[in-house]
Amino acid sequence: MKKKVVAGNWKMNTTPAEAKELTDKINELLKGVSGLRPRVIIAPPFTHIKMLADITDPRDISVAAQNCSSYKKGAYTGEVSAEMIAATGAKYIIIGHSERRAYFKEDNATLATKVNITLEYSLLPIYCCGETLEERESGKLFDIVKQQVSEGLFHLTPDAFSKVIIAYEPVWAIGTGKTATTDQASEMHAYIRKLVEEKYGASAAKDVIILYGGSVNAANARQLFSTPHIDGGLVGGASLKADEFFEIIKAGIA
Ligand code: PGA
Repeated sequence: MKKKVVAGNWKMNTTPAEAKELTDKINELLKGVSGLRPRVIIAPPFTHIKMLADITDPRDISVAAQNCSSYKKGAYTGEVSAEMIAATGAKYIIIGHSERRAYFKEDNATLATKVNITLEYSLLPIYCCGETLEERESGKLFDIVKQQVSEGLFHLTPDAFSKVIIAYEPVWAIGTGKTATTDQASEMHAYIRKLVEEKYGASAAKDVIILYGGSVNAANARQLFSTPHIDGGLVGGASLKADEFFEIIKAGIA
């Protein structure tokens, strides 16, 4: 049975002291959990990654960056490279979150470059996709997600692709308290899996981890995680409260 993945995206929240306190609490809560535990990932702001990688054990919690530069190094003021992130002890980079796409105008071609650089430094990409409300209502949701997934990922070799986690996050469900229904989420996850099957074959499609994101919380996680094709969650707001995040992690225990 595939192990679930529960990832917390802290976005631009927490001071270093708050980040440490939150991580210490999650670490504490995780002791005492038995059963097939989900893979737990936290994605703090860049400034806290090294500290949190130092106080976590990847067998319990892995650390992710929320973004990286599409350049490797050099005169790119304000950028943070995948190489720097790799040196902190982080294991993952979230690529193409809808907030990056919308506010920082990141397109699929740039994101494909970021995916390549992430893999080059032996980090694992968590590649986000998802449609806006307008795109859903106008019936373009499948075309949009197909474009995001194929342009961002389908240049990869099968071996490189096997390292990628996909996160389906409908934009209208992010931070709104409006979760996709299990039918809506399952339908899109199945569609993404079909795209993967067409490109990389049945075994890659079975193995690829596809997370759902968008207002996941302690009350809905169990139902979402038991829905066909949903392999876990990418959690924003609810990952900032240790107790609630822990409830979500528990919902992923097999
Ligand atoms: P949310 O955010 O859980 O607060 O909706 C999810 C995300 O943006 O990854």
